[in-house]
Amino acid sequence: MKKKVGFIGWRGMVGSVLLKRMLEEKDFLYIKSIFFSTSQIGEKNPKFSNFFFPGFLKDAYNIEELKKLDIIITCQGSLYTQKVFPILRASGWSGYWIDAAADLRMNKDSLIVLDPINHFHIKNAIRSGIKTFIGGNCTVSLMMLALGGLFRKNLIEWISFSTYQAASGAGSKYIKELLKQMNFLNQYLSKKSTFAQSILKIEKNVTNIIKDSNFPKKNFLIPLILNLIPWIDSNMSNGQSKEEWKMESETNKILSYQKNKRILVDGTCIRVSSLRCHSQSFVIKLKKNIDLNRIEEILSNDNKWVQVIPNNKESTLNELTPLSVTGTLKIPIGRLRKLSIGPKYLSAFTVGDQLLWGAAEPLRRMLKFLI
Ligand code: HSE
Repeated sequence: MKKKVGFIGWRGMVGSVLLKRMLEEKDFLYIKSIFFSTSQIGEKNPKFSNFFFPGFLKDAYNIEELKKLDIIITCQGSLYTQKVFPILRASGWSGYWIDAAADLRMNKDSLIVLDPINHFHIKNAIRSGIKTFIGGNCTVSLMMLALGGLFRKNLIEWISFSTYQAASGAGSKYIKELLKQMNFLNQYLSKKSTFAQSILKIEKNVTNIIKDSNFPKKNFLIPLILNLIPWIDSNMSNGQSKEEWKMESETNKILSYQKNKRILVDGTCIRVSSLRCHSQSFVIKLKKNIDLNRIEEILSNDNKWVQVIPNNKESTLNELTPLSVTGTLKIPIGRLRKLSIGPKYLSAFTVGDQLLWGAAEPLRRMLKFLI
């Protein structure tokens, strides 16, 4: 019998990307889909060109309805998880909970899912009765897919990173705000007379405009265009941002590494104005001196999404930018070279779509394991 799968938060940004991928892969053929809503209960179920779901949206807060499900997949966000998950579990529901939100990631009875990397742990977890499966933080998942071969062969002593994270990682209203910021500035730039001025005059005017008190920045708090924000998420007490803290904690949890085997991962997370692709620059200390050709081979043989990009200007510009990756499952890794610091120090740069492999795809693939 087909499993009853409830979808919560499917209309949001990550949820919509998830549904699009499920339609592409015809996943809906293998499940009985039940759609929920927190705000439009009773309205018609979604309709897509090649798929039609009869019936009406159910109440996402109705515990009795949720209890009838075999699997719940939620992209509704933290508040929903915090409110519903404990009540649902306390009610005795023992179905599978698949979640995009961060809240349950570090719980001891939940697993962070990224199957090209921890397929073995996922299979074991299902066998041993784990019922809560959470998608990893996007930067963590994208880093691990890119460096999968080095993790698998246990060649990494530590990683230091700088990230260049897209507006989409903060949420859809942030993307809109980024575009509003562009529009605000464009009122000046689109005037014919603007480019007749000297460059320093233009630069001064542009700076004044983005510093104007009316500049749209309610969400980002400061301008993101022509700027960057070297802080993502909340403060930790040790000087890290929470986003930076997640890199080491989640990486080691995905690998199921205990304290004595931990890989050290630390650096700085930075918001930039790309739309939906996160980029990351790494300095990696290897456990031994390995030939660069061998490293490229190890990286590219690890999973079918990673692509080693030759370390030259043309390939980098064509294949290693947010724009060349957006909307795809590609995980290019390039700028690979040994640093002058020493033969065990490797430099690398990777890009990945934050909504696909960074959010929706690991959840979709987890669902497939369960059905
Ligand atoms: N926390 C990430 C970001 C997104 O702000 O870019 C999601 O995992």
